[in-house]
Amino acid sequence: MENKWKRYTITAALPYANGGIHLGHLAGAYLPADTYARYRRLMGDDILYICGSDEHGVPITLGARKEGITPQQFVDKYHSLMKNSFAEFGISFDIYSRTSNKIHHETAQQFFLDLYNKGVFTEETSQQLYDEQEKMFLADRYIMGTCPVCGNEKAYGDQCEKCGSSLSPKDLKNPVSVLSGNVPVMKETKHWYLPLQNYEPWLREWILENHKDDWKTNVYGQCKSWLDGGLQPRAMTRDLDWGVKVPLPDSEHKVLYVWFDAPIGYISATKELKPNDWEKYWKEKETRLIHFIGKDNIVFHCIIFPTILHAHGEYIVPDNVPANEFLNLEGEKLSTSRNWAVWLHDYLKDFSGMQDTLRYVLTSIAPETKDSDFTWKDFQDRHNNELVAILGNFVNRTMVLTHKFYNGKIPAYGNLTESDRELIASIKVAQQNICDSLEKFRFREALQELMNLARAGNKYLTDNEPWKIIKTNEERCATVMYLSIEITAYLAQLMQPFLPNASENTLKMLNLEKKNWSTDLKGQLIHPGHQLNEAGLLFRKIEDEEITAQVEKLKANQKQVVIPQETSSPKLPTSSIISYDDFSKLELRVGTITAAEKVKKADKLLQLQVDLDTEIRTIVSGIAEHYAPENIIGQQVCIVANLAPRKIKGIESKGMIMMAEDENGKLKFVMPSEAVKAGSKIS
Ligand code: MF3
Ligand code: ZN
Repeated sequence: MENKWKRYTITAALPYANGGIHLGHLAGAYLPADTYARYRRLMGDDILYICGSDEHGVPITLGARKEGITPQQFVDKYHSLMKNSFAEFGISFDIYSRTSNKIHHETAQQFFLDLYNKGVFTEETSQQLYDEQEKMFLADRYIMGTCPVCGNEKAYGDQCEKCGSSLSPKDLKNPVSVLSGNVPVMKETKHWYLPLQNYEPWLREWILENHKDDWKTNVYGQCKSWLDGGLQPRAMTRDLDWGVKVPLPDSEHKVLYVWFDAPIGYISATKELKPNDWEKYWKEKETRLIHFIGKDNIVFHCIIFPTILHAHGEYIVPDNVPANEFLNLEGEKLSTSRNWAVWLHDYLKDFSGMQDTLRYVLTSIAPETKDSDFTWKDFQDRHNNELVAILGNFVNRTMVLTHKFYNGKIPAYGNLTESDRELIASIKVAQQNICDSLEKFRFREALQELMNLARAGNKYLTDNEPWKIIKTNEERCATVMYLSIEITAYLAQLMQPFLPNASENTLKMLNLEKKNWSTDLKGQLIHPGHQLNEAGLLFRKIEDEEITAQVEKLKANQKQVVIPQETSSPKLPTSSIISYDDFSKLELRVGTITAAEKVKKADKLLQLQVDLDTEIRTIVSGIAEHYAPENIIGQQVCIVANLAPRKIKGIESKGMIMMAEDENGKLKFVMPSEAVKAGSKIS
């Protein structure tokens, strides 16, 4: 199929410059975006991969305060830490910029003014909590008080961490300022709001209709919840001194809301990189804009920022936002405040030269459709049993044998057998599948395809035993070795987006150049007579001690104290959304009613016996007003089979019958469209 896109603008969320980069960040956004960017470059596309540090907002000012340095010193320190570890890890940004740059301040201000002059914003005056001593309005996290729900005396202005209630600063009893400890006063202040509700029809059509089929279900579902929950005007300015100044008169102590300025950082960074032709990356319809983010950023990249771009009028909106779920660590939620995290700068020190291993593991377990778990043991297993034992082993065996038999000079091959032809066909299939999966942002699947090709190569060697036939059938041996090298060459090329270092090393051993995937990656890559370079090992083994040391380090560095951190995502109306994990906990089965009788002294209840093949269950169900007991014997029903047993009118009920309610409130059995065996699973 012809590619309708002329160029690609690929962004990865700008990380807050308030700490390092950890594995959760990498797995969520930077690594999938990098793999994708590398893939697009290999296809010969015109792409930019844009990122930088997000240096504004309360996470920065509070962090600086805690460390006793200025916000600028604070972001300088973390910006270089993050920038360096990304570079050392090999994330191939075309630019890694930062939002404290002049060009960004100018770009964000101009953007704000454009919207202001278009009359997009509404102005609203409201009462906000103010610290008279610090002369400062207090953002949510700057206020503490007693939770109105559970009485916790240390609840924050936006949330009580004890009971989880989502709060607004005005809900707190006895509020105090985190800065001075004083009781804040109410003071009037004016802000500019983006009336999101006015854009709801546009958002509905753009997301819910036009992107129904191509956006990931987790992303689409979150957007739908937001839209169904009703959009509210959202303030685009804040009373703060750190940030991009509001470019209007009388706004001295006002800055742009960090979620207004930060995504515009993608645009400023593009300008910085391409001063003369940045516009085509943001304003031409043939440009495909793709945002890589973690799930806590979905609303900002799918609703708020697109609305800002759309309201402006000159800009394209994202064509896709392949957000990932979260990565857990050793079974627990990652937490920077508890320091329950593996930091990239630490990893790079402890596993020097092993960038590809981390890329491999994080891609294999990428939280693409649900949260996933990183454990050090699994890291070791995947490295030793997959990278070393499958990929590394195949490349090594092939290289070593070719050197041993032919001094590294590719032999001429003989007649191809049926299985040789199948193997050649499977290379093409692997290549196609890898591309198809990458196009769909299914990085795990794409990597699996790559590994399957290495597996096929290993099997080919094992089945054909060149080390034996070298003595009995020289021609056959030459064919087997030729084809093994050909697979190695394809592997080396196809590895590039996933394992760039291993790819480079393999290409070097093969004495080959990198190829463009769309034009040059076809037919034979290796020709008889070609001379290989020296063989070397692609991966070393990871020892048990290294893993034990990491687990111990993690535990030792864990902090008990909870330091306030602004949650980056506002509360979602997601009560109706559950994860696949939650769903998969349900055990739903089809059963057949074998007996039914009224429950004494309860007009609504029937006591049923339901055959589940392996057992007969007693279930009490509130359907007596809808069905007569004698009419439902033999009826097939759907039941929730793993519901905790419950005593109802003295009878132990083990499960629940699923009923559909019609418009008159009458209950009807839910059942399979055709009779199935009692006990059948429903999924
Ligand atoms: N700094 C934010 C976070 O870490 C992400 C900002 S993404 C951008 O959650 F689009 F705003 F830049
Ligand atoms: Zn509470």
